[in-house]
Amino acid sequence: MIHEATSSKAWSVDGTTFSYRGSLGTGLRLGGFVSLATPGGDELGQVLSQEVDEADGGRFVAGHGRLVDSARAPVPFAEATVTAAAADEVQTLLASTTAPLQVGTLRTEDGIPALLDAGGFNRHTFLCGQSGSGKTYSLGALLEQLVLHTRLPLLVLDPNGDHVHLGRPRDDIDPTTAEAYAAAADDVRVLHTVTEGDAAPLRVRFSELGIAGTAAILQLAPVADREEYNAVLHFLDATPETRFRSVTEVFQAFAGNGEPVLDAVRQRGENLGIDRMTAWAGPDARTVSEVWTQDRPRAIIADSSGFEERRERIAVAVAVLRQLWARREERRPLLLVVDEAHDVCPADPSDELQRLAVELFSRIAGKGRKYGIHLLLASQRPDKLPDNVLSQCDNLLLMRVNSAADRAALAQRFGFAPPGLVELSGTFGLGEWLAAGKVAPVPLLARTGSRLTLEGGADVSTDWATGSSADQAQSNEAQPWSS
Ligand SMILES: Nc1ncnc2c1ncn2[C@@H]1O[C@H](COP(=O)(O)OP(=O)(O)OP(=O)(O)O)[C@@H](O)[C@H]1O
Ligand SMILES: [Mg+2]
Repeated sequence: MIHEATSSKAWSVDGTTFSYRGSLGTGLRLGGFVSLATPGGDELGQVLSQEVDEADGGRFVAGHGRLVDSARAPVPFAEATVTAAAADEVQTLLASTTAPLQVGTLRTEDGIPALLDAGGFNRHTFLCGQSGSGKTYSLGALLEQLVLHTRLPLLVLDPNGDHVHLGRPRDDIDPTTAEAYAAAADDVRVLHTVTEGDAAPLRVRFSELGIAGTAAILQLAPVADREEYNAVLHFLDATPETRFRSVTEVFQAFAGNGEPVLDAVRQRGENLGIDRMTAWAGPDARTVSEVWTQDRPRAIIADSSGFEERRERIAVAVAVLRQLWARREERRPLLLVVDEAHDVCPADPSDELQRLAVELFSRIAGKGRKYGIHLLLASQRPDKLPDNVLSQCDNLLLMRVNSAADRAALAQRFGFAPPGLVELSGTFGLGEWLAAGKVAPVPLLARTGSRLTLEGGADVSTDWATGSSADQAQSNEAQPWSS
């Protein structure tokens, strides 16, 4: 027997959480907001877990949730009628956010804006979702909102050139929004690997890698390559970091120093092709860190998609992180956004340069917050990033995750995210997400709305799925006007 949709009754033993039981079909949704008519007055709550109970030959829905008004003194109650909250109540609750960012609409209550709290980005954030779940698209939508509604400087490491249009609104959006966006994004700089005209390219200086980075990229091991390592160590230690403007100058100094061991280091560098890497700034070019510190732009998109080698992207990350850390005492707030974060900050680094990048990320994850350096790291699975970095993330933006093991690991790692909602991520559609932590005063289930700017590197089209070329030829014959 299935009970008719009548009502659900709730109770609360502590005045902050509640449990309820009721008939099927009353419209109470997991993650949704509910109104509880308690003896002391109406309360707003959120359903955080739900299951179907079978008892006495009938089926019921039983669930648990949290009362969302944390400012009010907890008052336990024995019985309250529970109904889905009215749209205006939910809207008022979410609008209490001090610095709202509208990235989309609620998944649970159709059409209601999903507002994230911009102030919550003063913590590190992990954006997780499997390939194709919509991370990059949603990240772009979030960056647009940060550009439009905050003054938080953004430094984006963009390995696929997905965010290169962040500075310009799309032509087809409403003109008032387009104008406001264009004004806010006026100083968004995009640094590409290869540039035309006098646009500044994405470059770092060899000397910005420091001693550890130089040794790492030269594949010098402190013990196995004792002599060369030691020579480089002393040479660089005695040289101000700003002395060499280009990799050529460094290699010339190694060759001209008169010490055979330093000339051997030069040979090693040349054999490894280090002097031929595109990422190095020439003597007159400015590096990404120099543009960042000298011009203080609204945002920099460091598009490293044109580099041929992974070590170039990692060298950029190492140089940028080192420079940010060296200037930490300036306490200039910033959000360092890293899409495909496992590329430069993997859980299992495969070489010394990557290990150094991980060390720098770990340092910033652990201590960056007090200097205003905040991370937003996007990746497909939790185990792709180092645990000591993830453990410092106080915000979770979760998109679809198919693997039950990954969902369990996420629920365990991000204890502030309700496990029932993390588990729900296995059912998310494209562009749907859960936000939990400081960015979301209450956990939100939402879907990303349309973008204000174009996506850079959209997925390859799947029009090959609709008919073979023979079919196509036939249909072209039938419609001679189609090209
Ligand atoms: N909210 C959305 N509305 C419309 N299209 C979307 C939305 N989110 C994503 N897409 C589209 O779905 C595709 C996959 O999205 P996206 O590239 O953001 O996934 P991803 O999670 O970053 O994947 P990967 O991990 O492989 O980088 C893209 O073509 C994108 O344009
Ligand atoms: Mg992506």
